[in-house]
Amino acid sequence: MSEPTPVREATPRHYLMCRPTHFDVTYAINPWMDPGKPVDADLAVEQWEGLRRLYVEHGHTVDLVEPVEGLPDMVFSANGATVVDDRVLVAKFRHPERTAEAPSYHEWFTSRDYPQVTSAEYVNEAEGDYIVVGRTVLAGTGFRTDPRAHAEAQEALGVPVVSLQLVDPRYYHLDVALAALSDTEVMYHPGAFSEESRAVLRELYPDALLVDAADAEVFGLNAVSDGKHVFLPETATGLAEQLRARGFEPIGVDLSELFKAGGSVKCCTLEIRHRVPAGA
Ligand code: ARG
Repeated sequence: MSEPTPVREATPRHYLMCRPTHFDVTYAINPWMDPGKPVDADLAVEQWEGLRRLYVEHGHTVDLVEPVEGLPDMVFSANGATVVDDRVLVAKFRHPERTAEAPSYHEWFTSRDYPQVTSAEYVNEAEGDYIVVGRTVLAGTGFRTDPRAHAEAQEALGVPVVSLQLVDPRYYHLDVALAALSDTEVMYHPGAFSEESRAVLRELYPDALLVDAADAEVFGLNAVSDGKHVFLPETATGLAEQLRARGFEPIGVDLSELFKAGGSVKCCTLEIRHRVPAGA
């Protein structure tokens, strides 16, 4: 007998995005980037506007951080900061091409009176490598975020941090290898992780949705879930079916221009998680 499909409920989210006004691929810091390949900047903006519109249409709040000229990867706002309970840990980028993005995020949060805005000591590429699942942060390392940053994140955010080792350079950030679907559920591509980290994931999430190479390679895991709707690259068709079978509503998004920089839906989305007052 098969289990009934769970009924999913969306909760309104608060996202911070950055318009790809200055988007381009002028350097290569991951295997997906090829500066020799042309980029259609207008199309990038149009596609990104489509994602922003989708979020708003689904009841989410989208704030914007001002894009900075000369920072072509700034559209990937997920890399700017990690926010849990209104506590903000600002990123410290691995590559000099991106280090100048961090002050914009620091400024954005401090000027809005977030009670605690921490500047990082160790390299961490924020939600690129930190996936918040309920009250736990899954933390990737291997290519970008320094493993020492994981302990720093635990102290700054006050929630447990679990380290995971990434081993495949195509999945250089955790958010292209794993995504949170709800406060207790994740999906991931096992091939992106070391054997030991795969064992950790099996231990923590025995019922996780496992994603095959075909869907992972089109960045199907670079997805954003509001508890019901899962915004993901439209090319991840097999994954969309798997999500539907679990009661989620997959919403395919075309971000083909941003994919040329090695990013997609989740990379463009920094989630601001507010503190829930006691008793609420
Ligand atoms: N070109 C960017 C980089 O290599 C892409 C970042 C994608 N962001 C993400 N959250 N995975 O840093």
